[in-house]
Amino acid sequence: MRKPFIAGNWKMHNGIRETKEFFARFLGMYLDSSEVDVAIAPVFTAIEAAKNACKGRRVYIGAQNMHMEDKGAFTGEIAPGMLKELDVDFVILGHSERRHIFGETNNTIALKLKKAVLEGLLPIFCVGETLQERENEKTETILREQLDTAFNNLDAKEVSRVIVAYEPVWAIGTGETATPRIAGDAHIFIRNRIKELYNAVAAEDMRILYGGSVKPANARELLSVPDIDGALIGGASLQPDSFAEIIKISLEG
Ligand code: PGA
Repeated sequence: MRKPFIAGNWKMHNGIRETKEFFARFLGMYLDSSEVDVAIAPVFTAIEAAKNACKGRRVYIGAQNMHMEDKGAFTGEIAPGMLKELDVDFVILGHSERRHIFGETNNTIALKLKKAVLEGLLPIFCVGETLQERENEKTETILREQLDTAFNNLDAKEVSRVIVAYEPVWAIGTGETATPRIAGDAHIFIRNRIKELYNAVAAEDMRILYGGSVKPANARELLSVPDIDGALIGGASLQPDSFAEIIKISLEG
């Protein structure tokens, strides 16, 4: 059985003050459970406040991105060791906004993924097709390229320390969600590819999250799909009550 993983990606929202306010409310609603992994990725500057707020509670705090080098002339970037100083639990890599707004390529993301695994930071590795790619029936080709490039450098043991998030670009922040059928098919495709690249155990153990306009109103039908093991949530993770509600729904299954 794969334990559900419910993660909030706050993107460029919530500074230190808002982070404290969020957790003051959220931690009053959320009942810690060992049946679900709950995670939030605030902006870099609010990570420490989030860690402090969640001390003694079952909430993982992560980062939304990192560079693959240890240090150097990379203005505006952050190194894995710097995140580890903050005791960060996980890192989101290859989010579609990183790919499409900031030009990150499959190759760059592969280097980051390898580095995160070597550093013991749990990566949430994002893949997904654009609307145009879906309309041109390129979804599987795109997913295969994203997966194969990223996993090229990882052995079976390393891949067991990765979480994948399927996030169709056309469903992110648009209010448009993939139907359970569309999402389920993509998750099965991803799992099968992991089986081809590694083995059946790696595929069976891999947690694959769905992301793209997940909210309390659609979480139940998405999370009840057998191959969907959790959610990566943007907009709805900014509200303590809707995030807590999705966590509650994840425990129903
Ligand atoms: P959304 O974002 O839930 O606001 O669509 C998801 C994401 O970008 O991870």
